[in-house]
Amino acid sequence: MPKIIRIQDIAQHVGEEVTLQGWLYHRTDKGKLQFLRVRDGTGYAQCVVFKKDVSPEVFEAARSLTQESSLIVTGTVRQDARAPGLPGGHELSVTGLQVLQVAQDYPIQPKEHGVEFLMDHRHLWIRSQRQWAVLRVRATVIRAIRDWLDDHGFVNLDTPILTPAACEGTTTLFETDYFGTPAYLAQSGQLYNEANIYAFGRVYCFGPTFRAEKSKTRRHLTEFWMVEPEAAFCDLDQLMEIEEQFVSYIVQTCLRERAQELALLGRDTGHLEKVVPPFPRISYDEALEMLGEIREQTDDEELKGLLEIEWGEDFGSPHETELTKRFEKPVFVYGYPTRAKAFYMEPWPGRPEVSKSVDLLAPEGYGEIIGGSERISDPDLLLERLREWGLPREAFEWYIDLRRYGSVPHSGFGLGIERTVTWICGLDHLRETIPFPRMLKRVYP
Ligand code: 4AD
Ligand code: MG
Repeated sequence: MPKIIRIQDIAQHVGEEVTLQGWLYHRTDKGKLQFLRVRDGTGYAQCVVFKKDVSPEVFEAARSLTQESSLIVTGTVRQDARAPGLPGGHELSVTGLQVLQVAQDYPIQPKEHGVEFLMDHRHLWIRSQRQWAVLRVRATVIRAIRDWLDDHGFVNLDTPILTPAACEGTTTLFETDYFGTPAYLAQSGQLYNEANIYAFGRVYCFGPTFRAEKSKTRRHLTEFWMVEPEAAFCDLDQLMEIEEQFVSYIVQTCLRERAQELALLGRDTGHLEKVVPPFPRISYDEALEMLGEIREQTDDEELKGLLEIEWGEDFGSPHETELTKRFEKPVFVYGYPTRAKAFYMEPWPGRPEVSKSVDLLAPEGYGEIIGGSERISDPDLLLERLREWGLPREAFEWYIDLRRYGSVPHSGFGLGIERTVTWICGLDHLRETIPFPRMLKRVYP
């Protein structure tokens, strides 16, 4: 019996007879020759069925195969530099074939389909080569995140999804009925992370987070995954150092381990190779000046309008896009106006209208992938902020406690997985970076 292998290991079996289990991705009929492009989840293999090498039954079985038919194929591994899409160029000279099911009328054909059609068939679309490549990059991003944090003393403690209060503003809360009282799907695990650092020093949570985003953009999901590290005895500068090390490690790991997938996506990896510390740092005020310059220099009236902004407002996508085009690496923008950000941020010393906040914007126009800040450590200031932001004190009583018993300067950030994968893969919409995206107009499939 030939050994059953996975396609990713094919190079180790040159000259051997092996068995692959998978699905037909594409078939080319050349009369006496059938080229079967088979995928098994780990990669793609070119399987060549030569009429004179197999029984008439096997040859006919090969001819019956349609896209997405399931099969078990046996053959001898050969080195062939021309075999497309195969790492190292290997192919299989087929000796045997078992068809499990001939798929009838697979809806996704090798032609252009509209995005809505593909999204309606997301359960099938994920089998396509590009989608496969993107989601493999996602898995690597997630593993790199965990490896880096675990290796740098961050303890993984996950935080609740059903919560009594808002973290990131009350306008994007999903409310649920919790046995008669309202509860909200978590917008962030941060507040609980802040409790956890007082027990563990450095922690992170990693899970799905929810925002009732009413706008349809290429950067927003209603359910997205966020990793949130938090550290005690950490100020804003130290936070930026952690972030640049962390993000560089994620990108470099993808370059090393997902070269094949990035090539399939046609990603220009030259941009990603530049992602090494240190990253440039500019203040919100400097960013605003830059935007002013960009507006003066452009003849594009629409862009001029889009870039209009007053001191005090948060940046929107157009501002971030234009800013990041000016940098080769991710850029930190720090010191946002207090009112533009969340209630929990430490004020800038001597400038209470500015917060010790920092966003990390990805280059090539991608924009914010991380939001973070130093947190308020004084209980009275925190109480004042809760009042100003109109947040109910009762729901936050435990959170104020953290400032009563051994308060220390501390900071943390949240990195959005889907935005990060969108940037690394060079995509123009984040909906392809999660297996089943949830958006304003989509909860199916
Ligand atoms: O800037 P945000 O809202 O920050 C927080 O939630 C903090 N509590 C994090 C912390 O300090 N622990 O969100 C952080 C990141 C954003 O930079 C973005 O990458 C992602 O989460 N994000 C979204 N991704 C997809 N869809 C959305 N609707 C997102 N909202 C935020
Ligand atoms: Mg943000």
